[in-house]
Amino acid sequence: MIQTLEWTDQGVRFIDQTKLPTEETYVTCKTHEQVADAIRTMVVRGAPAIGVAAAMGIALAAKNSKAETTGELKRDLDQASDLIGKTRPTAVNLFWAIRRMQEKFERVRIRPITQIKQDLIEESQRMHAEDIAANQAMGRHGATLMPSEGGVLTHCNAGALATAGYGTALGVIRAAVEQGKKLHVYADETRPFLQGSRLTAWELMKDGIPTTVISDNMAGAMMNQGRIGAIVVGADRIAANGDVANKIGTYTVAVLAKEHGIPFYVAAPISTIDFACPDGTKIPIEQRNANEVTHIAGKQMTPDGVSIENPAFDVTPAKYVTAIITERGITRAPYEESLRRLAGAEAKVEV
Ligand code: MRU
Repeated sequence: MIQTLEWTDQGVRFIDQTKLPTEETYVTCKTHEQVADAIRTMVVRGAPAIGVAAAMGIALAAKNSKAETTGELKRDLDQASDLIGKTRPTAVNLFWAIRRMQEKFERVRIRPITQIKQDLIEESQRMHAEDIAANQAMGRHGATLMPSEGGVLTHCNAGALATAGYGTALGVIRAAVEQGKKLHVYADETRPFLQGSRLTAWELMKDGIPTTVISDNMAGAMMNQGRIGAIVVGADRIAANGDVANKIGTYTVAVLAKEHGIPFYVAAPISTIDFACPDGTKIPIEQRNANEVTHIAGKQMTPDGVSIENPAFDVTPAKYVTAIITERGITRAPYEESLRRLAGAEAKVEV
């Protein structure tokens, strides 16, 4: 089983996703500052994994704190939360995780400091375990939507590497294969950061699931040739109306899917739904360094001085989403109502 991240006595241990697929190396972060760096530099990435990493980063801040009073401990935790909250803006799981750790602190703040620290460490580990269980449940629900055989396309990496384990979109594919469905995965390479070719292909090959990598601009032709029976992707943030922010290029895939009459599914935990965000236009989109576009493996691919855009995510309007698969079941349009019903009308607010 792939260990994307885990709490150890030495600190938070991550598989270094910047080194995959050619090197399987691990880094251990001993401080919350190091965890923040790991999130910012994509050592760990993928919305649910970022959320659990954030929680473990705050747990590290608690563990390392020299605070002698609860007030001092709170100040240390707030500073850590602030730093971690500034790493990546789009994945709402990051803010959800910070909020959950703050709420845990408030519930246990009357206890002795050593006990509060322990409680926060345990809360982050609980979030890790809950994420895996949610993905397995999503897999069980989503597998019923997969064809019994044939091609399934995915974009970016929404697998074990993007979560605490098992994956959201790849969890659905894994569960379908475990049930005996004969799927062949088409993995978009996902320029510019190549999460599809580097990470999705790596983890599916480890599991022996037949996989073909295609460059992003091949997806339309594959659909037109009848080679894709379904599409399943993850999400970084789902607005209250069902608009979905996910890796740049997802929107293109969704529009193509509609044209070809192919179902387009989004698999994501309830923690990815942002009820405070009415629609996709309000989702903050991370802009990343131009280098990711100008260079491939260190080689310059664009003329000096040319203008570059590098939005890390796009928004797929709800009208292109056939269904959203969550740990509590499958929802369909109108999402405004169905998502709220599913989540028990829980409100989320950014920190
Ligand atoms: O920039 P990344 O690699 O963090 O983007 C990841 C994605 O867009 C995933 O599809 C999304 O986070 C869902 S992961 C289960």
